[in-house]
Amino acid sequence: MRAIDIITKKREGIELLESEIEWLISAYTNNEIPDYQMAAWLMAVLFQGMTAKETAALTLVMAKSGDMVDLSEVPGIKVDKHSTGGVADTTTMILAPLVAAAGVPVAKMSGRGLGFTGGTIDKLEAIPGFETTLDRSRFIANLNKYNIAITGQSASIAPADGKLYALRDVTATVESIPLIASSIMSKKIASGADKIVLDVKVGKGAFMKNTESAIKLAETMVNIGQLVGRETVAVLTSMEQPLGTAIGNSLEVKEAIEILSNRGEPALRDVCLTLGAHMLVLSGKTPTAAEGRKQLINLLNSGQALQKFRDFITAQSGDSTVVDNPTQLPQARFVQEITSPGQGYVTAIDADQIGFAAMRLGAGREYKGQVIDLAAGIVLQGRIGQYVKTNQVLATLYTNDETRLKHAASCLNQAIKLDELPVSAPPLVLGIIN
Ligand code: URA
Ligand code: CA
Repeated sequence: MRAIDIITKKREGIELLESEIEWLISAYTNNEIPDYQMAAWLMAVLFQGMTAKETAALTLVMAKSGDMVDLSEVPGIKVDKHSTGGVADTTTMILAPLVAAAGVPVAKMSGRGLGFTGGTIDKLEAIPGFETTLDRSRFIANLNKYNIAITGQSASIAPADGKLYALRDVTATVESIPLIASSIMSKKIASGADKIVLDVKVGKGAFMKNTESAIKLAETMVNIGQLVGRETVAVLTSMEQPLGTAIGNSLEVKEAIEILSNRGEPALRDVCLTLGAHMLVLSGKTPTAAEGRKQLINLLNSGQALQKFRDFITAQSGDSTVVDNPTQLPQARFVQEITSPGQGYVTAIDADQIGFAAMRLGAGREYKGQVIDLAAGIVLQGRIGQYVKTNQVLATLYTNDETRLKHAASCLNQAIKLDELPVSAPPLVLGIIN
């Protein structure tokens, strides 16, 4: 086969054969095809799209380009959850112990954050002593003993996706639904998930800015799951404003403890219950999402979910006393309150700007490999629709670098908009696709 023929075919909108996609991706991964030809093919895909069959073939060849994790030593149906990325999205840290407490094994490989969406691995590292790199035997042993293990994603998971993503990033070919869908699904499949729950974020602070494109992405991923035999359900959730109140690693651990303690921000709790309920249904634990939700609420009420979080921390060498004493988490030396310049109803909290401000405070990475300030970030006080008075605190900024406060404060002031007229809070869960 020749790369030029496959590029030409895609350029003309002709469906590629599975064998052609397999050959192209394997050859590229083995450095047998130059970046310029792969870039041309990616751009052709961006304009012509891919059929469901092509997208599934691409997903599988990327998944199989590296290790395929085998979790058959762990009994039960392993359900993984993936979020397309948002601001103040602490769901994984909450869902993992919550669903594990319900008796479903949660085996997760998570990533680090880049830009203003934080990675679960970074967040967990805010817990003193917590080990985010588990070898295979410890990963399996923890799963069998506690139903829960989270480890950093190794470079040997879907390396073809890593190489392609780096090329897409510099050739303006990230924004293609089949390419995004196959990229996400290839990593989930290689990580060993039997079934997958996807949290597809929609809105200002998300990859997908409108519901129409989010539905398209969700349908494409659910379809891939079906074609490759890994049942997938997608929940569309709003990222019009930050989901929780905390943005920043240590601050998000504290917020996860709040939710697991049966307190905390209702929106974040609600999204966790919705995603968790679908995980229970896929695992076969409960016949309906409504029953799954009831079971999860009981686990929050009884303290079992919080106990599972303590056990999980201990199992990964962390200090679980942070759960009862969150002041042991990294604390920022500089704290500044942002107060309301006037009175009125909150009409917008721009998640993008808030995420950017948190990154500027040191909570996120502006470039790969950057050391982050685990204590840095933002805690928000209001939500869209709420009435605030003049001088009322809208947010609190945390950092260990005082010089970063000024710029972050001005971002915050621009991100939160007030109006005399009331607005209603936007809906949180926009749809379920299965
Ligand atoms: N996240 C991924 O893993 N891949 C994409 O292509 C986009 C978002
Ligand atoms: Ca996230």
